[in-house]
Amino acid sequence: MSDAAPSAAPGALRALWGVVKFLRRRPWMVAGSVGLLLVNIGIELSLPQFLGNAITHLGRGKGAADSFSLFHLVAAFAGLVTLRAVIGLFLGPLRNTTAQQTLGDIRAAVYDALQRQTFSWHDNARTGELISRASTDVFRLQDFMFVCLLFSVDVTVGLLGTLAYIFALSATLGWLAVAAMVPTVGAMAFFAARLQPRWRKVHEQHSAMSTVIQENIAGVRVVKAFARESAEIAKFRSKRDAFLAEMFSTVNYWAARVPFAQFLFGLGVPLVLWVGGRQVIAGDMPLGDLAKAVFYLLALGGRIGVIGQVTNIIQNASSAAQRVHEILNSPVTLRGGTRPWPTEGTAATTVCFEHVSFTYPNTPSLLVENDAAEPPKPPDAPKTARRMALDDVSFDLVPGQTVALVGPTGAGKSTLLALIPRFYDPTAGRVLVEGVDVRELDLLALRRRIGIVFQETFLFSASIADNIAFCRPDAAREDIIRVAKAARAHDFIGELAQGYDTIIGERGISLSGGQRQRLAIARALLTDPRVILLDDATSAIDPKTEREIREATAELCQGRTTLIVAQRVATVRHAALILVLKEGRLVERGTHAELLAQNGVYRELFATQLTEEEVRP
Ligand SMILES: Nc1ncnc2c1ncn2[C@@H]1O[C@H](COP(=O)(O)OP(=O)(O)OP(=O)(O)O)[C@@H](O)[C@H]1O
Ligand SMILES: [Mg+2]
Repeated sequence: MSDAAPSAAPGALRALWGVVKFLRRRPWMVAGSVGLLLVNIGIELSLPQFLGNAITHLGRGKGAADSFSLFHLVAAFAGLVTLRAVIGLFLGPLRNTTAQQTLGDIRAAVYDALQRQTFSWHDNARTGELISRASTDVFRLQDFMFVCLLFSVDVTVGLLGTLAYIFALSATLGWLAVAAMVPTVGAMAFFAARLQPRWRKVHEQHSAMSTVIQENIAGVRVVKAFARESAEIAKFRSKRDAFLAEMFSTVNYWAARVPFAQFLFGLGVPLVLWVGGRQVIAGDMPLGDLAKAVFYLLALGGRIGVIGQVTNIIQNASSAAQRVHEILNSPVTLRGGTRPWPTEGTAATTVCFEHVSFTYPNTPSLLVENDAAEPPKPPDAPKTARRMALDDVSFDLVPGQTVALVGPTGAGKSTLLALIPRFYDPTAGRVLVEGVDVRELDLLALRRRIGIVFQETFLFSASIADNIAFCRPDAAREDIIRVAKAARAHDFIGELAQGYDTIIGERGISLSGGQRQRLAIARALLTDPRVILLDDATSAIDPKTEREIREATAELCQGRTTLIVAQRVATVRHAALILVLKEGRLVERGTHAELLAQNGVYRELFATQLTEEEVRP
């Protein structure tokens, strides 16, 4: 399913390439690093030439001084070594800066992608898992960036250059070097292919562990209330043990195989010594050339050792890259339209539902119960069906109207509200705002014109004023106070030592449920929305405050269309229209008096809240 969170793994190479592509944003830094590296490789390749030549000349013993100057050779050697060190001085910081800045770019891209994802994508994702991907996995790419930024160049140019030099000395020795390299590289490729899935498992275990940590911190009150601390600690330990076991087995797997590969290559050196030594004895090759070949071969061995370490880093990184890639490349399935915002007030309805049905994409298929009232189904009828959260719902909200939405729990009230700002798209039917299908409207413009108070209040760790002004950070203090007064939050804010500048906890923890709801109402009012959606917004508020809020917001809601989900008959009694939702269907509609007269779902719903005269049928 394309709309789902963490989906099928992309190819490891494609994922790594996706990471490497971020380097294109810093072409000059990359070019500088590669240029300096090439100079260093050149120096490194030329050093054995000096040594070999020295050995050839010195082999002549006393007569050597006539044919060459030891001083010049030593001076040139020392000069090159110094130059290499100086280049390293610049190369290191340049490479680190490039790698760190690129990681910063990747982090920002991951954060962007998370912010742009749809509600259903986030419904499917676990927070701990996402945090682990956005932080730990990006962090894991660090080694990859540091090493691989230059390593690919180093390996290709270095290996090819070294081989070319050996071939120039003697084709026989060149082929011997190739013969030693082929099985070594083959063995490493073979082991590396088995390493990558292991690293992916390690990262999955790490995410599972992070999810336990994250959920326990978020749900610490529940854990304590049910005295489940030791059970939760045990749960964490088992996740940690699984993670460590996987990690050790992966690290040890590789650690045990690198020496084997090095051993294979190591066999090449005595072989070259044997064949080259015989050529020297036969007088076919100067001693210095054999020394050069051995130096180059040892340098190759060093490179192959490094390839071993780096393969491990790449395999580790490629599984992290896959997990990051999945976030970066999950298609955003819900995109806004391009139609200009219609002139307000021209449409006869502010919000209109036309035969809207909706099923959550992640609803599990449930067995359809046998309904005795229905005619028996044909034997080939499907046995499962997704439960519809909304089923053929149609209604209109005219401008300025206040409509109440009631119904038993799970009836689909919150779902119905969620379709208006297009958190989800209907499975069938259309939702119109200002007479236009919401799918044709610009998503941000649509959401900016709708003020919503969610059933569960989330406040940020920031000051009260910043929380109210969340959608309009530049709002003047008077405006903030005005909406806080309307939401009946001003008085309790005034009692706090720092007033509007009081910092509230991650979830507004230092505030009561009712206080948090009032801040959420103020936050929604500040956007000056055309449409206000209140989801059970006053359920945690005592009836007296609720009445005050209702009166005050009634003033503010003048001229705005309001859809309010409510649990109290007092809230809905005066609504111009009441919609009654049951199991996703709009079963009744009308005013309070009309619905009471119908003697149906509405009366049953509020039976315990009716006044004495209303109770009488
Ligand atoms: N994000 C979701 N993913 C899948 N199913 C969901 C999701 N949210 C709600 N549902 C399901 O959709 C149905 C309607 O839920 P909804 O939250 O709209 O009910 P509600 O009328 O608001 O209930 P309440 O009065 O308890 O808030 C329920 O069966 C619920 O389990
Ligand atoms: Mg709800």
